[in-house]
Amino acid sequence: MADFQSELKALAKPGDRGDGCRVFIETYGCQMNVYDSQAIGGLLNKDGFDTAADIFEADVVLLNTCSVRELAEHKIISRVGEIRRQRRNAHLPSVTVGICGCMAERLGDELQKGNNRVDLVVGVDNYDKLPGMISELMATQTATRRKRTATGHRTDAHYVAPPVIYPVNNSHLVTIHKGCDYKCTYCIVPYTRGPQTEKSPQAILEEIRTLVETGATEVTLLGQNVTAYHWQKEMDFAALLESVSGIEGLQRIRFLTGHPRDMHQHTMDAIGALDKVCPWLHLPIQSGSNAILKRMKRLYKKEEYLEMVDYARQVVPDVTFSTDIIVGFPGETEEDFQATLEVLRRVKYDQIFSFKYSERPGVPAAKLADDIGTNEKKRRLAEVMALQEKIWNVEAAREVGKTWTGIVEAPARHPGDSWRVRTPNNRKFVVADNLIDQGLKIGDEVSARITGFANTTFLTGE
Ligand code: SAH
Ligand code: SF4
Ligand code: F3S
Repeated sequence: MADFQSELKALAKPGDRGDGCRVFIETYGCQMNVYDSQAIGGLLNKDGFDTAADIFEADVVLLNTCSVRELAEHKIISRVGEIRRQRRNAHLPSVTVGICGCMAERLGDELQKGNNRVDLVVGVDNYDKLPGMISELMATQTATRRKRTATGHRTDAHYVAPPVIYPVNNSHLVTIHKGCDYKCTYCIVPYTRGPQTEKSPQAILEEIRTLVETGATEVTLLGQNVTAYHWQKEMDFAALLESVSGIEGLQRIRFLTGHPRDMHQHTMDAIGALDKVCPWLHLPIQSGSNAILKRMKRLYKKEEYLEMVDYARQVVPDVTFSTDIIVGFPGETEEDFQATLEVLRRVKYDQIFSFKYSERPGVPAAKLADDIGTNEKKRRLAEVMALQEKIWNVEAAREVGKTWTGIVEAPARHPGDSWRVRTPNNRKFVVADNLIDQGLKIGDEVSARITGFANTTFLTGE
């Protein structure tokens, strides 16, 4: 399987340049970055680099970063200083630090200035250059080093991450396209990730078949807008789901993230009809107010979103929903905010991910006054979260006494704890580790009676 599926020749040829140089990758941001970090690891390993277990063992530390909110970027800048400090305190030589991902793309050379400057900046479409850039850097005396940057979008090439033994959530990630063609006014992603560009269906199917051959039973199809997938007018997302479903040995298909605007009836029909496709829809609404949705350029109205939820409930058995919400978007009145709360009461999501609006430089919403004060944003965020908890507690209580079946995903976090299990509709429950002693292992199916819950995790047993 190719590491870098491209219609053009790879920019850099693999060799043996790493010579045992140890690289540690720290991943921030969304699942796209988790997948990309696996791809970076694969590209480096193939070229003779080793994987370090932590920053202390590493010759090079790469931070795969996120720009979606200001705070995420601040954390990275201080992390660079912290890494250098921790190495000094451990009496280790100074380490080469590189920034990959969305911050690299957004800030480029800027990251090589100031106190916490880094040695290497490599954007989301240039990871095939990393082996060459790192080996050049390592071969140069620290004092004479030139800073190195590679950014800019390429639409011709996609990464293919090698299989990982214990993937996140026991589900192998498979990126099906990159970038985003929407221009939600608050969002930096179209600028950091570039235009939406599809991986070919052949490449996707080949990647999944390879995963299945290595023992995988579950995949999560990834993209900023998977529901907008379209391959040369021949194949849309529903058709892709159907093709992936045809892969023998694959048992479950999840996907992240769908844009409500592209969640057509026939897509939901396919999700409902295809047994392997899990009945869980993460559909970010962002706001329940049509005025705000319009200013966000989300391209749907609250009513259309709710109709879509109702339709999904008709055609997708056991479907559950989760969503993203932004509070404090410019000009959000109390009435707008209440409309968002109303949607929560109506849909009854399993889970919400809520954020305070964060102004990003250069995006269209940056022209609007960021006029909701920090304290008011905090209050709205706390209120959204409190309401969600209240709604969820009622919904979750209805599940007690039922018997659920799911897949064992991960060992307990602490010895003696229970093991985590996930149902097809993305609910988590835990089972006692004596079941595991009886030979149950990661990837196995297990059934248990629900006896209670703590937050979003359901409990079983006495
Ligand atoms: N492609 C996905 C999500 C992309 S980013 C989608 O369209 O839904 C993940 C989430 O971060 C978004 O859904 C949004 O809720 C949040 N987000 C994005 N930009 C933000 C900003 N400037 N301030 C606060 N939250 C933001
Ligand atoms: Fe950002 Fe909107 Fe694209 Fe999602 S659809 S990545 S929120 S611009
Ligand atoms: Fe963050 Fe980039 Fe993902 S901005 S959310 S890491 S696409």
